[in-house]
Amino acid sequence: MANVILVGAQWGDEGKGKIIDVLTETSEIVVRTQGGNNAGHTVFIGRDKYVLHLIPSGILRPNKVCVIGNGVVLDPVGLVGELDGLARLGIPVTPANFQISETAHIVFPWHRQLDGARETRKGKDKIGTTKRGIGPAYGDKAARVGMRMIDLINRERFPAKLRERLAENNEVIQALGGTALDYDQLLAEYTAAGDRLRPFVKNTVLFLHEASQRGANILFEGAQGTFLDIDHGTYPYVTSSNTTSGGACTGSGVPPNRMDKVVGVLKAYTTRVGEGPLPTENAVISDLLHGMGREFGATTGRARRCGWFDAVATRHAAMVNGIDELAITNIDGLDTVADIQVCVAYRVDGQLLRHLPSDSEVLARCEPVYEHFPGWSTPTDAITQFSDLPVNCRHYLLSIAQLTGARLTIASVGPAREQTMFL
Ligand code: IMP
Repeated sequence: MANVILVGAQWGDEGKGKIIDVLTETSEIVVRTQGGNNAGHTVFIGRDKYVLHLIPSGILRPNKVCVIGNGVVLDPVGLVGELDGLARLGIPVTPANFQISETAHIVFPWHRQLDGARETRKGKDKIGTTKRGIGPAYGDKAARVGMRMIDLINRERFPAKLRERLAENNEVIQALGGTALDYDQLLAEYTAAGDRLRPFVKNTVLFLHEASQRGANILFEGAQGTFLDIDHGTYPYVTSSNTTSGGACTGSGVPPNRMDKVVGVLKAYTTRVGEGPLPTENAVISDLLHGMGREFGATTGRARRCGWFDAVATRHAAMVNGIDELAITNIDGLDTVADIQVCVAYRVDGQLLRHLPSDSEVLARCEPVYEHFPGWSTPTDAITQFSDLPVNCRHYLLSIAQLTGARLTIASVGPAREQTMFL
């Protein structure tokens, strides 16, 4: 399998957690390279449901090493909570199967406060963030005032750094009408988390380099999706990291010439959480999916906005990620739809566009041009062979893969491992 980068090819929530779990079977190491606990990867094993926010879902399989790379922003208190949750489920997490990059940046409560305060001030123009402090934490990293794991676990250095950063941030918080944070409380909380995490903190760049040299299979798991990428997404309605395949290199220290394949995960339709343009958004399909109890966020529980498959967008995703192979998920969500629509172009200002405009305001005004596909009106969730899928379903899946411009290799008809077909 070699080194595989897995990315979301839409607006996040493509079902990456499940595909990562399936691909982990043939990987030795799974690395998370960007984002923070804004992500929520849901994995079902038998009847048990696991939602992981920071720890790669590879942790649920024995004999895999999971790594949080340098590109991640990490809430140490949240991470300790996640470790406790796994311990309660009897899943062992030790320095032998879990490592944290010493240069990953830390999320503090002031980042969350600033995230919330900025959203409130934006009013109707808000981004609709997860309020996990992701934007302000990456902002500090870029402004070179962030703190890293290497600082947190250094008991001599951390208190003074914390005092200095807190003083500045308390001024900002108070200016925005918030309540100042207490130094002693924060120091106690973060020192305790640092003590708990210290055994896992390593030079993960060296570890990954050595593993790659000896030929280990490494899976780089993406969080969020292509159109939430800080550079290639629908800015400013994006997250603050590179969710596209390049982020796997910068967020891990593994160079591009060590990567062998990019797998893009897509839903058979489109969803988005938070604000920002979504050209194919459609009330009929939203009501249908929500009525089935689907499409509610794993991290915030928010109802996702839903729409038809947007091949203009996924073609763009294939281009910026260099997607070789596609995994299409949530196929069963369309089982009862008689007339399925796929957006193949946009119409805006009297022009026909076959590419994604860079300006989110223009994208918001784009009218989708649809091609129609006949539905299959048959439950697919118990089907285990691609050739056993209804002919209309196979035709639909192969068509959206062709429109996207990559080879379909995985089709998923439900959350369980068994509901996965390989082509
Ligand atoms: P932030 O990452 O919390 O700053 O949120 C920025 C945007 O990214 C918002 O529209 C969020 O809803 C969206 N977002 C962040 N994480 C995820 C995710 O894991 N899945 C889907 N959308 C996400």
